[in-house]
Amino acid sequence: MRRKRWVIAMDGPAGVGKSTVGHLVAKELGYHFINTGEMYRALTWKALENGVDLSDGWAVTRLARSIQWEFRPVGEGTTLKTFLDGEGVTTQIREERVSRNSSLVAAVPGVRKELRLLQRELGKDGGIVMEGRDITTNVFPDAEVKVYLDASLDERAMRRYRQLKAAGKDVSFEKIREEILARDRKDMERKINPLRQAEDSVLIDSTQLSLKEVAEKILEHVRSRRRDGAR
Ligand code: DC
Repeated sequence: MRRKRWVIAMDGPAGVGKSTVGHLVAKELGYHFINTGEMYRALTWKALENGVDLSDGWAVTRLARSIQWEFRPVGEGTTLKTFLDGEGVTTQIREERVSRNSSLVAAVPGVRKELRLLQRELGKDGGIVMEGRDITTNVFPDAEVKVYLDASLDERAMRRYRQLKAAGKDVSFEKIREEILARDRKDMERKINPLRQAEDSVLIDSTQLSLKEVAEKILEHVRSRRRDGAR
């Protein structure tokens, strides 16, 4: 009998390493991986490009509904990337104006509803690792595996700082720390589907762990659930 392919849902604050860990876990299991933050960013980028007023929730929701969304495997085939109306947006969604405005778009109820439909469709047959802010609580509350990944603010800021430094950028640790703190606040204090730990999720604190070790912990959890008979 072929094993059922599971949904592995993962949430956590900004800069905690969800994407790196999610990709590693998906690769090991032969699953797909998707970072749902990219969907909110993609919509933000499209709205900015089209001159849509971001404070007009209806206009942004209408835009979300009118787009042709596609999620295509890239690279060695593990990661699914967002394409809007046939166009890849990987570079555009990292623009500073997108980072600054995406929390506004993510707070629109109609947008969240629309993106949840797309996310559920992507996971309907399992075989996927999905990460974001509300995957364990709202998109797949019944996922076979639910993980909340956390790390101290200082550690997350230091990781981002090192990454940017290594890329040759002139950045300030204090500024990065402040930005992450502000993003955490927005995500946690949002009225609709705020970031919070689901009661039945596994909490992994990665402050003292490498992201490879975190991925290994999740894989151990998956294996032990399989052994316990959860199919
Ligand atoms: O993870 P990120 O910073 O790329 O996410 C971009 C924005 O989308 C950020 O404001 C958090 C929000 N988001 C969300 O509200 N729900 C998700 N499932 C994923 C991201």
